[in-house]
Amino acid sequence: MLNIGKLQVNSNFLLAPMSGVTDYPYREIVKKFKPGLVFSEMIASRALLAQNSKTMKMIKKTDNYLSAVQIAGCDPEIMAEASKICEDNGADIIDINMGCPVKKVVNGYAGSALMKDEILATKILESVSNSVKVPVTLKMRKGWDDNSLNAPKIAKIAENSGIKMITIHGRTRCQMYKGKSDWKFVKNVKSNVKIPVLVNGDITSKENLNQALKDSKADGVMIGRGSYGRPWIFQELFSNKKKFKINNNYKKQIILNHLQLSLDHYGKDIGLKSFRKHLGWYSKSINNSNEFRLKINQCTDEIILKNLINDFF
Ligand SMILES: Cc1cc2nc3c(=O)[nH]c(=O)nc-3n(C[C@H](O)[C@H](O)[C@H](O)COP(=O)(O)O)c2cc1C
Repeated sequence: MLNIGKLQVNSNFLLAPMSGVTDYPYREIVKKFKPGLVFSEMIASRALLAQNSKTMKMIKKTDNYLSAVQIAGCDPEIMAEASKICEDNGADIIDINMGCPVKKVVNGYAGSALMKDEILATKILESVSNSVKVPVTLKMRKGWDDNSLNAPKIAKIAENSGIKMITIHGRTRCQMYKGKSDWKFVKNVKSNVKIPVLVNGDITSKENLNQALKDSKADGVMIGRGSYGRPWIFQELFSNKKKFKINNNYKKQIILNHLQLSLDHYGKDIGLKSFRKHLGWYSKSINNSNEFRLKINQCTDEIILKNLINDFF
């Protein structure tokens, strides 16, 4: 159980925002396994203001499930306007991205670059949290690099600005995805604020979940890549069974359901293409998966693809 402002969330295991992964079909699939919240992909705040159909599709509300929309940008007013649009379109939470390390984003002074400019970061935190009624949360890294580990300081600023929960990915921006997520560092953030703090990075099993919670003293976890090809990880982490195993027929049903959601959401061409990476993850470490992947990467017909899935799984 997690209290995010006025929102009560039933589980403290949340699905992390991931560009190109946590789209509407993925969130619909993951919600079956009851994470506390699902997060959208990061959405550029300027794109939200234009309200074009591609962007509005990205913020499509996960049906009957608590969902957060994550926004990115560097202009406090545009970020505020964008968050209102998300709220009007059903977002239960607005999350601010201060963690994205990619050049295209940080060169525009958004994402983790904001951690280098505490004045601008403060303006954005205040402006967004004052503009919507739903809770506003923040996701960031430890800092820009090892010489500027200012996440605890920004967390305090965020709390004073009305932010209701903070997630820390235990790496610096300059680390990108190298090394290991530093769960122990998150303790410094946790002890600096009263709002819930989540630990994120490299959590993939019950064992390392328990270790991450112990090391960080965090109130919950956010899981990203650990859900690739196993959206049931959220159920697995709750299960008392030593060896959790998903029933094969159910797994096949989930995969076919995911494919259909993808086709319905994007149409045939993009739907099939964007689903291939998920099929790659679903089939990983199963016998003959290389051969299967070769076949699916060439397949452009949904009926043939469904038959291939039926045969393989
Ligand atoms: C493909 C991919 C896309 C990501 N996109 C976002 C994003 O849009 N917003 C964000 O805050 N973090 C993003 N992240 C970072 C994840 O949310 C998470 O912080 C990171 O992957 C570490 O957690 P994990 O080890 O559980 O994956 C992305 C990560 C990956 C691998």
